Amino acid sequence: MVDSIVILDFGSQYTQLIARRVRELHVFSEIVAWDAPAAKVLALHPRGFILSGGPASVYDENAPFLPDYVLKAEIPVLGICYGMHAMTLALGGKVSAGGVREYGLAEIDVKNENALLPLSHQKVWMSHGDRVDALPAGFEPLASSSNGILAGMSRADKGWYAVQFHPEVHHTERGKEIVQNFVYQICRCQPGWTAQNIIDSSIQAIRAKVGEQKVIAAVSGGVDSSVATALVQKAIGPQLSTIFIDTGLLREGEVEQLQIAFEETFDAKLTTINAGQRYFSALAGISEPEKKRKVIGELFIRLFEEQAARVGNPPFLVQGTIYPDVVESSGTAFGKADRIKSHHNVGGLPADMKFSLIEPLRELFKDEVRLIGEALGLPDTLVWRQPFPGPGLAVRCLGEVTPDRVSRLRKADAIFTSELNQAGLLGRPTREDARQLSQAFAVLLPVQSVGVMGDQRTYQETIALRAVTTEDFMTADWAMLPADLLARVSSRIVNEVAGVNRVVYDITSKPPATIEWE
Ligand code: XMP
Repeated sequence: MVDSIVILDFGSQYTQLIARRVRELHVFSEIVAWDAPAAKVLALHPRGFILSGGPASVYDENAPFLPDYVLKAEIPVLGICYGMHAMTLALGGKVSAGGVREYGLAEIDVKNENALLPLSHQKVWMSHGDRVDALPAGFEPLASSSNGILAGMSRADKGWYAVQFHPEVHHTERGKEIVQNFVYQICRCQPGWTAQNIIDSSIQAIRAKVGEQKVIAAVSGGVDSSVATALVQKAIGPQLSTIFIDTGLLREGEVEQLQIAFEETFDAKLTTINAGQRYFSALAGISEPEKKRKVIGELFIRLFEEQAARVGNPPFLVQGTIYPDVVESSGTAFGKADRIKSHHNVGGLPADMKFSLIEPLRELFKDEVRLIGEALGLPDTLVWRQPFPGPGLAVRCLGEVTPDRVSRLRKADAIFTSELNQAGLLGRPTREDARQLSQAFAVLLPVQSVGVMGDQRTYQETIALRAVTTEDFMTADWAMLPADLLARVSSRIVNEVAGVNRVVYDITSKPPATIEWE
C-alpha cells in the first residue's frame, strides 16, 4: 500500500490543487468531506491530514468544524487558512474576524527555525478575512505577515502545523517546498505513487471486481476513455469488447485516426457503430445545453445496451471519468461546489442503467492519466491530444444541432486546428514551452449578422474561436494568439466555410467563463 495523505475539504476552491501538489510528489492524496465518517477516513490509513481552506467563518452558525478523530489519530496535521482556524478552535485557541483583512498577495517573515516553512521573507497568497488571535496551548508562532497577522504556527511534538496562507497556490513563492516539507519531512511519506504503481494497482482492482465476467468499453476519441480502456484491456484482455460509437458529432478525421490508433496499439478489435442519424434525430429541436447532454448521455447508453446484447450482455461498462469530473459534477464537501454542468461521463447517465461502471481513472488528474497512457504504450497522438467533451461537437454547436450546422462547425474547427498545428502551438504541452495551448476549438453561434461578400449582402452565422492555457482545466487563461494567425484563420473560415460570415475570438478566462461554451 502506498503512503497517502487525506485532505479534509472545508469547501475551498483550492482543495483540488492541494491534492495535485501532494500527488506531484508521488504521494497519493484523497479528498474527503470534512464531515465524512471517521471510520471511512481512517480506513484509508493516511500518514497525515491536510485541512483545506473554506469560505465560512468558524463562528458562523453551522460552520464546519474539525472532527475529534483527526487530532486523536496521532499523525501530523497541516491546517490551511480555514483549516488553521478550525484547528485553533478545536484546541482552545481564539480566532477573530475583521481587523486588517488580507486577500491576494501578502508578504510574510518566517522567524523561527521549523520543519515546515523555509526561513526567509517570502510572498504568499492569502484569501480569508479571519485570523488566529490566541494560539492554542503548546503552539509557537512561526511567521507573521507584514500587517502583523499570524501567518504560521506549530506544535512540533504533535506534528501539528497551520498556515494562514495558501501554499498550494502557485503565487505562494515557496509553496511547493512547504507542501514537500509537510509530506516528506513531517509525515515521512515515501514517494510510491508512480505511473507503474497506479497501473499495477488498477489492474489488480479491475481483475478483482470483474473476475471471469465480460466487460464492454466505450471509447469516445478522448484521452480519458482511451486510457481507461487500455487499462482494462491490459487487465482482462479477451473479456473486453471495445466499441466506438461514431455519433456524427466528432471532429474531422477523428473516426479514422482513432480506428488506426486502436488497431495498431491493441490486439482487441474496435467495433465502430455508425450512429450519426440517431443522434441527430434525438437532438432535433433541442437547444438547451443540459438537455443536449442528457439526451446524448442517454442515447449513448441505449446504443451500448444494444451492442452489449450482441456480445452477450456483459455486466460491466468502462467509463473514462476522471477526478475533476467527479468533483465538478457533484462536489465533495461542505457547500458542495456549485453544479456547473453535468458531465457526460457522470451526470448524464440515466437512472435505469443496467451496467455496473468500471472507472479506473476516477481518482486521477488529467496529467496523471496522460502519464499512464504513455506508460501503457499508447501513441502520442492519442495521449497528448487535447481534451474533447463526451457530448462532442453538440456542445460547441450552440442552438439546434443539425447535420448542416455540425458540418459547418467541423470545417471551421479543422481550419483553426490545422493553422495552430502548423504554427506549432498544439503540440505536447511542456512547462518550458508556455506557448503551447491546452485546448483550442471553434464554436458555432446561432447568431446571424449582416456581412458583405463580393457585392452581395450576407446574413449568416458566427464562429467563435476559443484557445486556452491551463494546468488543470479547473481554471484557464485565454491565449494571446498572434494577430497574423487569427487573421489567417478568420479569412480562411469565411472563405472556405459556407454559411459563416463572421469570426470572433473569445477573450474570457475560466472563471468566470467555462472553457466550453455549453
Ligand atoms: P469546462 O467547459 O467545464 O470544461 O470549463 C473543462 C474541461 O472538461 C471538458 N468537458 C468535458 N469532458 N465530458 C467530458 O469528458 C463532458 O461532458 C465535458 N464537458 C466539458 C472540456 O472540454 C474541458 O477540457
